Amino acid sequence: FVLETCFIILSLLCYPLPLKGNPNASPFPSNFLFGTASSSYQFEGAFLSDGKGLNNWDAFTHKPGNILDGSNGDIAVDHYHRYQAMIEDLDLMQRIGVNSYRFSISWARILPKGRFGSVNKAGIMHYNKLINTLLLRGIQPFVSLTHYDIPQELENRYGAWLSPQVQEDFKYYADICFKYFGDRVKYWSTFNEPNVAVIRGYRTGVYPPSRCSSSFGNCTDGDSEKEPLIAAHNIILSHADAVDIYRTKYQKQQGGSIGIVMNAIWYEPISEFLENKQAAERAQAFYMNWFLDPIIMGKYPEVMQEILGSNLPAFSNHEQEKLKRTGLDFIGINHYTSFYVRDCMFSVCEQGPGTGSSKTEGFALRTATKNGVSIGKPTALDWLYVHPQGMEKMIAYIKDRYNNIPMFITENGFCESDKSEKGLTEESLNDANRVEYLSGYLDAVAEALRKGADIRGYFLWSLLDNFEWTLGYTIRFGIHHVDYTTLKRTPRTSALWYQQFIANHTGSK
Ligand code: NOJ
Repeated sequence: FVLETCFIILSLLCYPLPLKGNPNASPFPSNFLFGTASSSYQFEGAFLSDGKGLNNWDAFTHKPGNILDGSNGDIAVDHYHRYQAMIEDLDLMQRIGVNSYRFSISWARILPKGRFGSVNKAGIMHYNKLINTLLLRGIQPFVSLTHYDIPQELENRYGAWLSPQVQEDFKYYADICFKYFGDRVKYWSTFNEPNVAVIRGYRTGVYPPSRCSSSFGNCTDGDSEKEPLIAAHNIILSHADAVDIYRTKYQKQQGGSIGIVMNAIWYEPISEFLENKQAAERAQAFYMNWFLDPIIMGKYPEVMQEILGSNLPAFSNHEQEKLKRTGLDFIGINHYTSFYVRDCMFSVCEQGPGTGSSKTEGFALRTATKNGVSIGKPTALDWLYVHPQGMEKMIAYIKDRYNNIPMFITENGFCESDKSEKGLTEESLNDANRVEYLSGYLDAVAEALRKGADIRGYFLWSLLDNFEWTLGYTIRFGIHHVDYTTLKRTPRTSALWYQQFIANHTGSK
């Protein structure tokens, strides 16, 4: 341990501090939230404990072949099961000096059978304990109602997001969360990355419920052209229902705010040609604005309406009015990466689903390279390129399009492949690449703040290595290393770096 600590301190000395001198010069306002992010399925484990129902990810990971290393989230990093582990994780947060923690509630822990069964008191108790312990340590809970995992019961009964019935279930669940936790939770997000969930769940079929057309992926059921649009439509309306309940029943007394978290990729036109600029705009429309436009403006992006025609579900007047009335209080931005975009509407592109040439992708080819040079340093993931300028451009884009609505960077982080066969080595703790990534991206956030963007917080993904969906435990995103045999957490260089960054920018040193 002594050796590890000496090594970390030594390696830290090699990095320039982010801000020298007067902390007042920091562009981060004093009430800025600095945190780390997590999610129930990726962290909690305890998949059958204390009356929790099975969720869609339990069902999915237990089918052979779905997860790269054959693993699942049954134990994950055991954030739930041992109260001690939870306390230990809160200790780690406190040591870093964060003032907020982003986590999600496991819907199936609160309502094992959705609205068709009773409320699981043990689930309520668990989150009460978590929230209270966080608050005692001066850490604000920043809570998502769903982060990909939903009770499997809803899939079995009516096909979950494909049916409008899901709106009733989501409303019911959201109401329970506001009622039990809203006196202490001041930041709510309805959904985490619904764009990723519907694209992977219903277009390419690689996430549950594994639906797609056989021409798009390896599925037996589904319609990759239509179903993502239906699922998205029901999610958008569910968001509006939850916000409506929050606004009418709780917000005044509880005084919190509510938003949605989107996966946001910066799409850079591959050249200055108008066609490529328009394609980059279409890529954004078919990815992020797809959800944000209706939630904020009551209608889908025009270019989606033009291209998709009657495949795109329509909002009734009443729904449109509700969407505009409820809206959101903030936009959560999960930003990690950037891509170049090339036009496939007016120029000829390689044909076929997943190439960007299809209608459902807005005829906008996403590509990492231009003239053989990639947009940023490649990483262990095929979608993650280090391009901090993308963060600043992404924030500026959202700021302009949505009138500088308050924003939170709800996720940003860097991953490396698992090298656990070598044991806990210097190499696995000295994550110089992660520090370089974080430092570049946080500088970009600072620059956006200086230019007037209303960004209220930054959450690093992630506190710990954890279950990375279909990649299982093969990829590590943590600023703390987790030994999956003993579940021991060990800080990486980046944990100390983040601690110093926060201290420098809050003057809390
Ligand atoms: C965003 C997702 O919200 C999170 O669950 C995931 O682990 C990270 N991206 C990294 O891929």
